[in-house]
Amino acid sequence: MTKSWKTRLIHSDAKIPQGYRSLATPTFRGSTTLFPSAAVVTDTWDQARVGYTYGLYGTPTMLELGARICELESGTHTILTPGGQAAISLINLALLQAGDHMLLPASAYYPSRKLATRLLSRFGVSTDFYDPCIGAGISALIQENTRLIWCESPGSITMEVQDLPAIVAAARARGVRVALDNTWAAGVLLDAFAHGVDITMQALTKYVGGHSDLLLGSVTVRDDSLHQRLGAAQQVIGCAVSPDDCSLALRGLKTLAVRLAAIESSAFAIAKWLSTRPEVERVLHPALESCPGHEFWKRDFLGSSGVFSIVFKPGPTQQQVYAFVDALRLFQVGYSWGGVASLAVAYQIVGMQGRPAYGHRIVRLNIGLEATADLIADLEQGLRQLSA
Ligand SMILES: Cc1ncc(COP(=O)(O)O)c(C=O)c1O
Repeated sequence: MTKSWKTRLIHSDAKIPQGYRSLATPTFRGSTTLFPSAAVVTDTWDQARVGYTYGLYGTPTMLELGARICELESGTHTILTPGGQAAISLINLALLQAGDHMLLPASAYYPSRKLATRLLSRFGVSTDFYDPCIGAGISALIQENTRLIWCESPGSITMEVQDLPAIVAAARARGVRVALDNTWAAGVLLDAFAHGVDITMQALTKYVGGHSDLLLGSVTVRDDSLHQRLGAAQQVIGCAVSPDDCSLALRGLKTLAVRLAAIESSAFAIAKWLSTRPEVERVLHPALESCPGHEFWKRDFLGSSGVFSIVFKPGPTQQQVYAFVDALRLFQVGYSWGGVASLAVAYQIVGMQGRPAYGHRIVRLNIGLEATADLIADLEQGLRQLSA
C-alpha cells in the first residue's frame, strides 16, 4: 500500500533497533490502548487480570508503580489515585453508602474531615470523630451501622500515635473495616497489614515522590473483594493518574531508604534540641516521650520520618508565632511535606473535640535534607522573635 506523507505522519514504517534496556522504567503515555482484534475489545478495569484495556486504568508505568507499592506494603493489590486526598475519597466512596456510619480520628488530615462533614453527609453517610488516643475504648462508639473506622497514625499536626492493634481488635469484634492513612510512615516504617488493618493508603506525594514536584496517592489491600469494590469505584469516578508522575515516583522510590534515614536522624536531633529550649512546652515527635502514644510508636513502628510539631509555652501572641515562622530563612512556609526542603506552618487548634486545645501555640515542621546544624541555627535565631 502506498502512503501519502500525511498518512505516514500517523502510520510510519520507520525502523529503529529493538532490544533497548534501561535502568529506568519507560514512561508509557496513552489514553487509547490498542486491542489485537475486534472480538477482544472490553472495558474492564482489572488490567492485571485481562490485560491492557484503557488509559484510565493505567499504562505499564502506572502498573509498575502500583505493583512496587503493593510489594513494599505487603499487600496483594494497589490502586493508584491522582493524590492522597483522592485515595481517601476513593476508599470512602467505594465502601460506604447512604445510612452508613464512619469513625474518623479528630486528628485526621483536615480535608478528610471536610469530605466527611461537607460531602459524604449529603449522601447520607454520618461521621463521628473520636479521640485518637481512645484505643480499645473505640468499642463504645461503634454503632449498628458503622462500616468503616479510619486511623491516621501519627495524626496530622497534633501527632498522636494510635494504638492500632486495640482499635483493630475492637473493629474486628463488630465486623467493621479499618482503613489507615500511612503517609507519615511512607508505607514502610509501619507494617499496616501486620497490625491487622484492612486498607492502607498513603499520599505518594510526600516521601515516595520526595521532591515536592508531583501529586499521587495509593490504596492497598489484601482482600480480593475489597479490591473489586475499589477498582469498580475508581473506574466510574474516573480519576486518572499521570504516567509522568508515576515515572517520577518510581525514581523517588530508588532513594527512599537513604532519604528517610537522613531525614529521620536530622529530625530527631532537631526535635531533641527543641525539647531543651525554654520557649518550648512540648515537642510532638513520635520518637520522644513527650508525644502522645510514644509507647505505641516504640512498639509498632520501624522508625520515624521528618514531620513533627512544637508547642510553645503560653505567652507569645499569634503574631509572635507568625514572626517566628517568618524569621526562618531555611524553613519555608508551605503545606505539602515529605520533600527535601524544610518547611514550617503555624496552626490554630481550637474548639475541636478530641484534640488538645493548643490554640495558636503549635507549629508543624517538615525536616528536609539541609545540614542539621544549619537548621538548628535557623530555628535558634527564629525563636528570638517569640520574645521580641
Ligand atoms: C496525612 C496526609 N494524608 C493525605 C494527604 C493528602 O495528600 P495529597 O496532598 O497528595 O492529596 C496529606 C497531605 O498533606 C497528608 O498530610
